[in-house]
Amino acid sequence: MKALILFSSRDGQTRTIASYIANALGEKQASDVVDLMQVDTLDWSQYDRVLIGASIRYGHYHPVVAKFVKQHLRQLQQRSSGFFSVNLTARKPEKRTPQTNAYTRKFLLQSPWQPDCCAVFAGALRYPRYRWFDRIMIQLIMRMTSGETDATKEVEYTDWQQVQRFAREFAQLPGKSS
Ligand SMILES: Cc1cc2nc3c(=O)[nH]c(=O)nc-3n(C[C@H](O)[C@H](O)[C@H](O)COP(=O)(O)O)c2cc1C
Repeated sequence: MKALILFSSRDGQTRTIASYIANALGEKQASDVVDLMQVDTLDWSQYDRVLIGASIRYGHYHPVVAKFVKQHLRQLQQRSSGFFSVNLTARKPEKRTPQTNAYTRKFLLQSPWQPDCCAVFAGALRYPRYRWFDRIMIQLIMRMTSGETDATKEVEYTDWQQVQRFAREFAQLPGKSS
């Protein structure tokens, strides 16, 4: 059986984290990494565990995340499962747990699917790649939250050791019988 790793990513960081986790699972368990925007039909019989990763943009996950959860709730509930959130608020260590990260806490409160493990990862700040409006908005948010405001900078805040630990936790989840 394989692991299914689904991601919702706008600028690529969540995709990179999903691939990193797939690599970390390595020989122990093969996995498929699939973009939630491109999911068509899924052969669930191949998978005994499933992970969903999603990034935040202007306070929200992409609607495709909640839609997928709603549509595939039974399949998610029948398997060992995990969720990870990627955002810039989590660049501050005290905002990097499911309980202290507002986006993740809200997701877990509202979601009919309750994953068996959950993590919050700091994302990346890549000013030169943003459109003018987004760059100005992110600069404003960064100024308000004492973050990086130099619009020539690209900063990756992701703690890869934390991602590695989470991959191990996900891999070690006990299987579900039904
Ligand atoms: C236009 C835009 C809006 C964002 N809004 C938020 C936000 O509201 N809160 C937050 O913590 N991070 C926010 N971020 C930061 C992203 O979550 C972060 O860059 C993450 O790495 C993006 O992941 P992705 O590359 O997989 O899309 C925003 C980034 C962009 C470009």
